[in-house]
Amino acid sequence: MSVLLTLALCAQLHLAKDPTAPVAAAQPAPMTLVAAPYTLPPLPYPFEALEPAVDRETMAVHHGKHHAAFVNNLNQLSAESPELRQGGIEALLPKISKFPPAVRNNLGGHYNHAMFWQVMAPVGKGGKASAALVKAIDQQFGSYAQFQTQFSDAGAKRFGSGWAWLIVLPDGKLAITSTPNQDNPLMDVAEMRGIPVLALDVWEHAYYLKYRNLRGDYIKAWWEVVNWNEVNRRYDAALKAKR
Ligand SMILES: [Fe+2]
Repeated sequence: MSVLLTLALCAQLHLAKDPTAPVAAAQPAPMTLVAAPYTLPPLPYPFEALEPAVDRETMAVHHGKHHAAFVNNLNQLSAESPELRQGGIEALLPKISKFPPAVRNNLGGHYNHAMFWQVMAPVGKGGKASAALVKAIDQQFGSYAQFQTQFSDAGAKRFGSGWAWLIVLPDGKLAITSTPNQDNPLMDVAEMRGIPVLALDVWEHAYYLKYRNLRGDYIKAWWEVVNWNEVNRRYDAALKAKR
């Protein structure tokens, strides 16, 4: 599992001197999530790059305040927990049940958001689902349209705050699931475990400034900014890790 997770959990994190400052880059880099000191990864595009689907102010607060808080909290927690300073997130998430809730929430929040920024891209810059991924989607869900509906429903019907996920199961098949709060499918507490290849944040902080209570409208617009190039990369890495 460790090799599989190591490949799947790739992230390249950099310390942002000003967490509210956007950092423009054409494409997100492969990731390697490391343990303490935890750092806030820069957005791979400017705050306004995802408009009109996701507005500038939401991105600025979401990245510069919410994600930054997870990172700051983790560094405070790691001062009291040597295990949080060793091994990287890929070694910690599968045994998250052994940690207190604060670690679960903040470690999940950090991982989830680092991934979320990467699986989005400006309209027209995200490419398309690869032939291999389209084939797997068709096999598992019947059609792309049915996949999209099921994934959207997973986000829309998640009670309270949480996430919708497309994951690769241990048998290599795709599945859609959702998690509450900042949990994710890599955690040993998840109802359905697998390697995430697409993530959707349905916390109110992800959409409330623009969409208010209309989560469904946010999800509908969000499909316009999915970075399929990154989803394809994650899907391929998950399958290779299984060989
Ligand atoms: Fe969020």
